[in-house]
This record gives sequence, C-alpha cells and structure tokens, in this order.
Amino acid sequence: MGPDRREFLGAAGASAAAAAAATVGEGAAAQPVASFPKGFLWGAATAAHQIEGNNLSSDLWLVENVKPTMFREPSGDACNSLELWPTDLDLARDMGLNAYRFSIEWARIEPEPGFFSAAMLDHYQAVIDGCRARGLTPVVTFSHFSAPRWFAAGGGWTNPEAADLFARYCDRAARRLAANMGAAVTLNEPNMITVVGEVLPPQMTGMVRDMNAAAGRACGSSNFKNAMLPEVADIPTAQAHMIAAHKAGRAAIKAARSDLPVGVSLTMSDDQAVGENSLRDAKRAQFYGPWLEAAKADDFLGVQNYARAQWNDKGQVPPPKGAKLNGMGAEIYPASLAGAVRYAHAATGVPILVTEHGLSTADDALRAAFIPAALTDLQKVVAEGVPVQGYIHWSLIDNFEWVFGYSQHFGLHSVDRATFRRAPKPSAAALSAIVRRNAV
Ligand code: BGC
Repeated sequence: MGPDRREFLGAAGASAAAAAAATVGEGAAAQPVASFPKGFLWGAATAAHQIEGNNLSSDLWLVENVKPTMFREPSGDACNSLELWPTDLDLARDMGLNAYRFSIEWARIEPEPGFFSAAMLDHYQAVIDGCRARGLTPVVTFSHFSAPRWFAAGGGWTNPEAADLFARYCDRAARRLAANMGAAVTLNEPNMITVVGEVLPPQMTGMVRDMNAAAGRACGSSNFKNAMLPEVADIPTAQAHMIAAHKAGRAAIKAARSDLPVGVSLTMSDDQAVGENSLRDAKRAQFYGPWLEAAKADDFLGVQNYARAQWNDKGQVPPPKGAKLNGMGAEIYPASLAGAVRYAHAATGVPILVTEHGLSTADDALRAAFIPAALTDLQKVVAEGVPVQGYIHWSLIDNFEWVFGYSQHFGLHSVDRATFRRAPKPSAAALSAIVRRNAV
C-alpha cells in the first residue's frame, strides 16, 4: 500500500499535549523542552525553475532573455539540479529531515500543448522515489510560478481556458506520479499577484507590459502574458482563473488518488493592526480573502511566511527605526511565522503546513539564530492546539531568486556557481539540531 493520508495528517492529529513541554534526559539533569508532535514533518523546499537550470520551454526563460526584461540576470544553469537532484536529496537526508518540497515543471512535462513527455514524467517519478528511498516525504508542487511558453503565449492566466489547461496537466501528471507523493500543492502563492499589484510602484505596469511584449515578439504572440508577474489590469481576471485552476487541478489530482492530501500555498505576512481604523482587515481580505475561502475545501493550507506587515489607517507602516533588515529590505522578525499560522488556521479551520519560511541574508549567523527563534514561537502555536502538520524551510540551497537573480541567499547550503558544489552552512546544523530532537 502506498503512503496514505494518515501519514501526512498524523502530525496534526496528534494531541496538543504531545507538543507541550516534555522532558528529555534522565534524573536531576532532566530539562524541559518544547517539543513538536510525533510525526511532525520537517523539510526544506526548492522549486524547479529556481534550481534545475535550462528550463528552455518555460515562459520565464523567454522573459529573462529578451530586452527589456525585469530580471537582473537569466536563470541559466541555475543549480543544475536536473542532474544533481540526488545530491540535493542527500543534503536533505543528511540534515535528518523527513520531508522535501519541490516542484514538477509543467514546461518540461508538457513542452507543447497536449504533448506530455514520458521521459520527463519518468524523471520526476525518480525524484519522488528518491525521496522515499531516503525517508523523505515528497511534498510536490504542480506549478511554482513558471509555466510552459505556449501557455503564456496564449494569454497565460488571463486565458479563459487556463483552468482547463492546468487541470489537463494535473490529470496527466497525477495519474503518473501521485502514487508515491506525500502531499500535493496545486499552485504556489497564486495570491502573490494581488500583493505584487499593490506594493510595486506604478512604473511596474509598464515594465511588465514591455517585457511581455518583447517575449511575444520573440515567439510570435500578440497576447503573451508571463505566468508570474502580472500586468496590473489583468489581476482580477488572472485571480479568478487561478482559483478555478486550483479547484479543477485539485479535482484532477483527487481523481487520480483520492487519499492524497491536496492544498494550495499562500504568501502570508503576519499582518498587524496599528492604531485606530487600521487597514489590516481590509488588506487581509484583499490579499487572502478569496483564497482562504477556496482553501476551506482543501486538506491543508500551505502557509509561506517571511515577514510581518504593520498597517495603520493610511497603509503599511515602515519597519521600526533601527530594526535589522533582511536582504529584501524587510524587518527581521522571527515571530511573524507564528502570527501568520495562527491567522491562517483561524480563518479556514483547515490544518496548516508551513510550506515556506526563511530569510534572505548573506550573513548565515542571522539565519542560524532566526530559525530557532521562529520555531520557538511556532511550537507555542502548536501547543495551543492549532493543527500544524510540519515546517518546511525555504530553501535547501541558494538558488535563482526570480527578478533578483542570484543576488539573494536563502539557502541552508551554498552553491558554487561555477562548479555547482553544495556546502552546508551553519544554519543547516541549527535546523538539523531541532529536527533531530523534534523540539526547540
Ligand atoms: C517563493 C519562492 C521564493 C521565496 C523567497 C516565495 O515567494 O515561493 O519561490 O524564492 O518566496 O522570496
């Protein structure tokens, strides 16, 4: 019998008492520790386009390589993980992790509309089986921002047929790959488009439009819309189609394997109200509302948290003076994960899986301190009784950070850009120590 739903839901089903203070050691030296439930998933995450390299059939490969582009540099070889995936899985295993989140690349599996590559499906089957062989539960994302070039050339998520096209891909991929998966995420951070539409300056609209137009010229499309960065006017349509795609994709995956837990992952700040008439609740409704509604029918909700956002009556409040900032310019605030998880569960009632959490920094000592601090707060949420199934850190390795290219470092391991050699950073040991004790 393949892995079943209990394996995945077990951690969340365990009583909160199991997550409360327990005692390790013997005799007088016994120390109370804050433990996580038995079966808690501990993982690290990656995404195909960010690590595999040479994702030639994808929409992003094209937009990275046209002029003008918003990308600092092209993804190129990335971390060469299409070749080196066994090494990546070894890194996860060597940390003592029991889960690995990665994505399968739609552009490789369906490089032309309706042509499904048996060889590429075999490849991803090998990765899934490679996870199992190393004791890693595969948490598999079906779409992590990138899409086939032909999909973007046909209008991307604005195409009225987008949901059906995504569901057709999910059907083919799930029928081949679902048997050995541990959990499936349909879309990664589909709500990112509403957040991006709000926070990026107005000139972004023109930049995305010009970049899409250049990509369209390069591939003979007058309606090229990359799947990741939206043109502001397209956001409402794209969001409606992505919600439909999530539902249709989930149905297709469930049709292939009804007991496989399926969810969506959302980008979620820890939104905090400041002063009177704070815009916090309105922002929550805008950024997450329709997705939290959709997630109520899912088996779990993937929470991806990197920061807090404080809102007063006018908008977002800048970080407090003197606050330490991460590489993206946001305040380093470890307690944000617990806040986001608490809200996500209260708003949906479904179990939470932390599918991403991490820190962009070239100073790994900051990450090594950030992880235990965030997990100390997360453990308290678990002990309160919030069903949290696991914690998956972003990222296993330094990788291609989208428009920022290779300038941002989220990895628990570094990657030499010339040799692709991976090396553990001290933060990998910091997370590993917590994983091995199942306690902070
Ligand atoms: C995305 C990742 C990204 C990470 C760090 C998330 O928005 O899912 O692909 O690398 O955050 O920015």
